[in-house]
Amino acid sequence: MKKFTTFTTMILVLLIAFANVFSQTGNQKQIEEKIDLLIEKMTIEEKIGQMSQRNGVRGNEEAVRRGHLGSILNEVDVETVNKIQRIAVEESRLGIPLIIGRDVIHGFRTIFPIPLGLAATWNPELVKQGARIAAVEAASSGVRWTFAPMMDISRDPRWGRIAESFGEDHYLASKMAVAMTHGFQTDDLSRPDAIAACAKHYVGYGAAEGGRDYNTTYIPEGLMRNVYLKPFQASVNAGIATLMSGFNDINGIPATGNAFLLKKVLRDEWNFDGFVVSDWASITEMIPHGFCADEKDAALKAVSAGVDMEMATYAYQNNIKKLLEEGKITMEEIDEAVRNILRVKFRLGLFDNPYTDVPQFPEIVNPDHLEMAKKSAEQSIVMLKNDGKVLPLSKEVKNIAVLGPMADAPYDQLGTWTFDKVTDDTKTPLNALREFMGGSAKIHYVKTLETSRAINQDRFPSAIEAANKSDIVLMFLGEESILSGEAHCRADISLPGAQEQLVSEISETSTPTVLIIMAGRPLTIGSVLDKADAVLYSFHPGTMGGPAIVDLLFGIESPSGKLPVTFPKMVGQVPIYYNHKNTGRPPRAEAWTHINDIPAGAEQFSLGNESHYLDAGFTPQFPFGFGLSY
Ligand code: NOJ
Repeated sequence: MKKFTTFTTMILVLLIAFANVFSQTGNQKQIEEKIDLLIEKMTIEEKIGQMSQRNGVRGNEEAVRRGHLGSILNEVDVETVNKIQRIAVEESRLGIPLIIGRDVIHGFRTIFPIPLGLAATWNPELVKQGARIAAVEAASSGVRWTFAPMMDISRDPRWGRIAESFGEDHYLASKMAVAMTHGFQTDDLSRPDAIAACAKHYVGYGAAEGGRDYNTTYIPEGLMRNVYLKPFQASVNAGIATLMSGFNDINGIPATGNAFLLKKVLRDEWNFDGFVVSDWASITEMIPHGFCADEKDAALKAVSAGVDMEMATYAYQNNIKKLLEEGKITMEEIDEAVRNILRVKFRLGLFDNPYTDVPQFPEIVNPDHLEMAKKSAEQSIVMLKNDGKVLPLSKEVKNIAVLGPMADAPYDQLGTWTFDKVTDDTKTPLNALREFMGGSAKIHYVKTLETSRAINQDRFPSAIEAANKSDIVLMFLGEESILSGEAHCRADISLPGAQEQLVSEISETSTPTVLIIMAGRPLTIGSVLDKADAVLYSFHPGTMGGPAIVDLLFGIESPSGKLPVTFPKMVGQVPIYYNHKNTGRPPRAEAWTHINDIPAGAEQFSLGNESHYLDAGFTPQFPFGFGLSY
């Protein structure tokens, strides 16, 4: 009987699976037919409208009413979104719904660790669940499309956007990108709480020369295919709905005008059938790149390369019709772009359910969301040092000095790209510690430095006094959130301001010291490492960073984060990453003479020497994958 039941169940499962496949294919066929019908009816202005995206609703109502706009970004007031959607659906000639986009990068209102921290969890399932929460919160505000996951491989900690990335390894980045995509989209994009994901920035943007944002990239095809393209390919295979073309020039051709990458690789080789959006103004920026003569030329090159939708600027709106009349682009090319966009709108179910029904959604920042944010933060934190097993701390401790600019920085611990946060939601380490100790220990808090960049040392004596009367010093250091992210690159990646001096002075006391470093990138922390007993690297841990850190400090949870990126000793070692190709003279410790040990007047010699720096050697401060536990 049991055998029979198992057999019947198997048959049923198979039947359901087949039915699904057929209905999906059937559904896809119907979608294509509906798209054909629509395209037949569309004027050229309406087609160009679908290919255009504008920032915010204000001033764009009339364009929507005329059917001359297909997408809006950065509108998160749900009533406004429903109102503009009603204009699109009920007042425009063809009733094509808008797609509303937003940068939901590591949470919407409940903020998760920055993506670099999420990668340190090495836990795709957790990342998927976090993205699910972000999607639900975003969708409840009318957002059905996020510009995430960012999957640029970054091997340069100077680059501010390393914070948004999954680090240096394409395998880890691919796993995380696919997990996030599934979390955002689910397996049914038409669910009202699913949002379309966007693979960005296609491609190579993270290889910006010198780690300076928007800079040129040179990536040979082998490296491109073996490393930089991998996460994009994995996301396309996982069904990602959209893709964003990058700002960067690659080997002489901007990513946004690059037909080899956008057509040959993406469409012909990978069969991507979603749509490509430009990055903000990346079409018109092909002019200063020196690749296009003017706006018209930029529109021509972007359409020809396969960019379906233009973000923010007006090159398509101002020029496509003229280019068509002049025979420089064809109606087939335009129809192809429109088709790609409409396909995603159909898949999102926007034609059937264009409006956001708020009561359907759970409360935003609810306890479940916060719990998941805490778990993610816990798993993202990397223990870099724990001498003498100073951690975990005992709850019996009676006096705790809490120092540093990041101990109670509710905005800065959230990290870059947190447009929809409410800073009051944040639990800082200071709050969490007070709550956890519940009065059983005295907490001597001295912020000491106003911000991470502050140099005023007036409060150092109070900090030293607090340290002297405490059993343990918890020092919260790092970078404010504004020091990483887009266009926020640093040439010096040490702890800014007077933080190193603070560590030095506190290390003169005899109180054991734990550093907790919140940052958007790997920092060069060699000079403070020896002066502390333990170090936790928490990246920017998000809304629940405080309780997560406290749980790790007191051993409620064990640290489990592992570095997704190599930490250099000195910035001059960059690029330094674990899977560097060998040289003909691979470095070995025994062949390295430190610069200070070379005898004066030494004769020039190269034989016996290997690929290293005289001053920094060849090993990093911490290798990729490093992370201690209890
Ligand atoms: C520019 C950024 O490069 C991109 O990542 C982002 O999605 C867009 N602006 C929209 O904000």
